[in-house]
Amino acid sequence: MVKGKIVVVGAGVIGLSVAWRAMNSGWRTVVVDPQPCSGASWVAGGMLAPTTEAWPGEEPLLELGEASLRAWPEFAADLGDVGLRTEGTVVAAFDSADVRQLEILAEHLASTGREVEQLTGPELRALEPAMSTSVRSGLSVPGDLAVDNRKLLEVLASKADFRHAEVKSIRPGAVELEGSTVDCDAVVIAAGAWSRNLHPRLRTVIRPVKGEILRLGPGRGALPLGRTIRALVESRPVYLVPRDTGEVVLGATQYEAGYNTDVTVKGVRDLLLDAERVVPGISEYVLVESAAGVRASSPDNLPVIDWVEPGVLVASGHHRNGLLLAPITAAAVVALLDGEPVPEAAQVAGLESRG
Ligand code: GLY
Repeated sequence: MVKGKIVVVGAGVIGLSVAWRAMNSGWRTVVVDPQPCSGASWVAGGMLAPTTEAWPGEEPLLELGEASLRAWPEFAADLGDVGLRTEGTVVAAFDSADVRQLEILAEHLASTGREVEQLTGPELRALEPAMSTSVRSGLSVPGDLAVDNRKLLEVLASKADFRHAEVKSIRPGAVELEGSTVDCDAVVIAAGAWSRNLHPRLRTVIRPVKGEILRLGPGRGALPLGRTIRALVESRPVYLVPRDTGEVVLGATQYEAGYNTDVTVKGVRDLLLDAERVVPGISEYVLVESAAGVRASSPDNLPVIDWVEPGVLVASGHHRNGLLLAPITAAAVVALLDGEPVPEAAQVAGLESRG
């Protein structure tokens, strides 16, 4: 039975996941985006890593991320081959301040009942032989996952019904495009950092946060990586996410630069220098691509998944966690559409008191 029609504005990982799960639940679904599968979802590294993104004071985000991580294996299996990797993550510390930062993270996780394994430099290298002898110590988080974001987008997009168009305005029951109107029972705003321009209630809640990333191909003699490597190098975070193809995604810078997506010399230089200090053999890789995307961030780093007014929903503000939070976001949006309670961990994503 068809429950009604929804229009999802935005064809990144959040919009496409929402559209797919809503379709499975019986909603007729149209996705509107002038350029599907672009933006932050396309640029992303694909880490599904709530534990290593955790920080004191952000426990609700950690719980939300863990709930979504638990949903990922089934979400991926339902889609087919999306390059899900299960080898886990290691985190490396470079200088004594970095060592202390990771100790604080490990102590914080232990205080909330989550144990991570603290490793010496040689123990880290036994897991990842490509790692530098200068790495002092680190952590192992075997439960983290990673996904090939581009494969995922391709599979999700193959299931969507698209209108390639710019949205001019949204109101309950209709989305205005250039020269046409799409009527519907509900609109879902899932346009990432651009969501703030689509409804006045989102203006102060969502903001763009830029990130630059590099894609490296396996050059001659380049040692492949087995698992995701994250590191702090003199307090700068860097990560290397391997793909099944031998490619490595190296990320990511983070700064407030509005919607600017220029790749800066400084961004590329810092990423390469820091990565090379952690994995010296990275210099044997081939630089295949540099790109910048714009994350949709919120003041408390939690996403916003809620009604903005009757007939209009938002699913945005996923900050550094869009890929990770796709399954739980889709489940929460479908629950809201169906008039059912959202998953408990996602109740923190309400709009009330945040905008
Ligand atoms: N999830 C990592 C990033 O946003 O760079």
